[in-house]
Amino acid sequence: MNILILGSGGREHTFAYQIAKSELCDSLFVAPGNAGTESIATNLALKVTDFKAIEAAVVKHEIKMVIVGPEDPLVQGIADYFSSSETLKNVMLIGPSERGALLEGSKERAKEFMAMHNIPTAAYESFTKESLEAGKAFLETLQPPYVLKADGLAAGKGVLILEDIEEAKAELESMLGGKFGDASNTVVIEEFLDGIELSVFVLTDGKNYKILPTAKDYKRIGEGDTGLNTGGMGAISPVPFVDKTLMEKIEDRIVKPTVEGLQKEEIDYKGFVFIGLIKVNNEPYVIEYNVRMGDPETEVVLPRIKTDLGKLLQATFQQKLNTIDLEIDNRAATTVMLVSGGYPEGYEKGKEIKGVESIEGSIVFHAGTTTKEGKLVTNGGRVMAVTSLDEDYKKALKKSYQNIEKLSFDRMEYRTDIGFDLV
Ligand code: AMP
Ligand code: GLY
Repeated sequence: MNILILGSGGREHTFAYQIAKSELCDSLFVAPGNAGTESIATNLALKVTDFKAIEAAVVKHEIKMVIVGPEDPLVQGIADYFSSSETLKNVMLIGPSERGALLEGSKERAKEFMAMHNIPTAAYESFTKESLEAGKAFLETLQPPYVLKADGLAAGKGVLILEDIEEAKAELESMLGGKFGDASNTVVIEEFLDGIELSVFVLTDGKNYKILPTAKDYKRIGEGDTGLNTGGMGAISPVPFVDKTLMEKIEDRIVKPTVEGLQKEEIDYKGFVFIGLIKVNNEPYVIEYNVRMGDPETEVVLPRIKTDLGKLLQATFQQKLNTIDLEIDNRAATTVMLVSGGYPEGYEKGKEIKGVESIEGSIVFHAGTTTKEGKLVTNGGRVMAVTSLDEDYKKALKKSYQNIEKLSFDRMEYRTDIGFDLV
C-alpha cells in the first residue's frame, strides 16, 4: 500500500526509515518532510493542518495509511475529518480522535481524566481570570517550588516552575492575562513532584495495547540540564533504572487504567500514547500525556522495534493489536541532537552540512534539513539526530559521539553529557 507520514522532524524521518522497510509499503510519502525523508520517500509540500490539501494528496496518490507525527493536526481533529468522510473513512489514519487528543490539548482535561480513572498524578486545581484571587490563595497553601501550567498547547513553553511565591502569583496573573494567548485562559497549578523523569510509550487500538520501549530525553539546552527548554537534545532507550517491579506498577496503575478509561469514555483512539512520568520514591506518577510519539524519543524507540511497523500500525487501525507479537531489540539505543547555534532562541538557517556520507555504525535522522542547489543545508533549530545501538547505552553513546566528530556545519552545537544523570 501507499503510505503517507505527516510531519518534518527527526521523528518523521525515523518513522519513514522504519516504514520503508515494511513488507506492506509500496510508495512512501512524507509531508512536508526534510532532506532525510526526501532520500527515502517522496516529499509533498503540504501543511500538516491543511486537511483539504491532505485529502487531495491521499486521493491522488492512492494512499491507504496516514501516520500523524505531530500533535497539532490531531488536536485539530484530523482523525474525525477522516472517519466522517465517505472517501477517507477506510484510509488507516494512525492517531486519536479530537476527544482523545484533548489529553494533550488540555492539561485540565488530562488532570480530570486521571482523577476520574484513579491514575496517580500530582494534586492540582485549575483557575481562570475570574478565579485569579482563589488561585493566589491556593498558591499560599502550597510549598515551593510552584508549578504553573497553561491549559492549552503552548509549543512546550507553557509550564513554569517558580521558587518564589510572589513571582508565582505575578506569573499566574500574567498567564491568565494572555501570556500564552488563549492557551493560558485556564491555568493548572499543581503540587511539585521531586524525582527522576522517564517516558513510556504505548500503542493502542482503543481496546488492546502494546507497551513500546521506555526512553528518557534531555530537554535543556545546556550541559547538566541547565538553561532553556528545547524540543529535546538527546535520548536513551531503555531507561536503565526501570526494573521489573517499577514497570509492573506503571502498567497496572497507569497504562491499563488509561486504556480502560478511553474505552469507558467511548473515545476513539488508534494511535500512540506518550506518558511522561516521574518516579518519586520508586512510585510512578503521570506528569503529562502526549497523544503522539516524542521527538527525539522516537529516534531511540522505533529503531529497537523489530516487528514490521507497517503491520503493527495496520493491526492498530483494525483493532487487532492482540494478534501481533511485539519483538524488541535488546540492545540500548541513544541519540544526540545537533542544533544550530543560538537555538532555542534565534538562529540562522542555510548552513551547509558536511560529513553525513562518512558516518559508520550510526544512523543519522534528519530534522531541520533541506537541500539547496544540490547541497545539504540546515533548515531549523534542531538539525539532525545521531542514533546508535549497542549492548549498553554507554557504548551506544560512544558511537554517536565518535560519528558526530565527522559532522560539521557553521555554529553546530550539541550536548556532550547525554545520560549524565544515569551513572
Ligand atoms: P509538561 O509540559 O507537563 O511535561 O511539563 C514540562 C516539564 O515540567 C516536565 O517535563 C517536568 O520536568 C516539569 N514538571 C511538570 N509538572 C511537574 C510537577 N508536578 N512536578 C515537578 N516537575 C514538573
Ligand atoms: N521530546 C519531548 C516531546 O516530544 O514532547
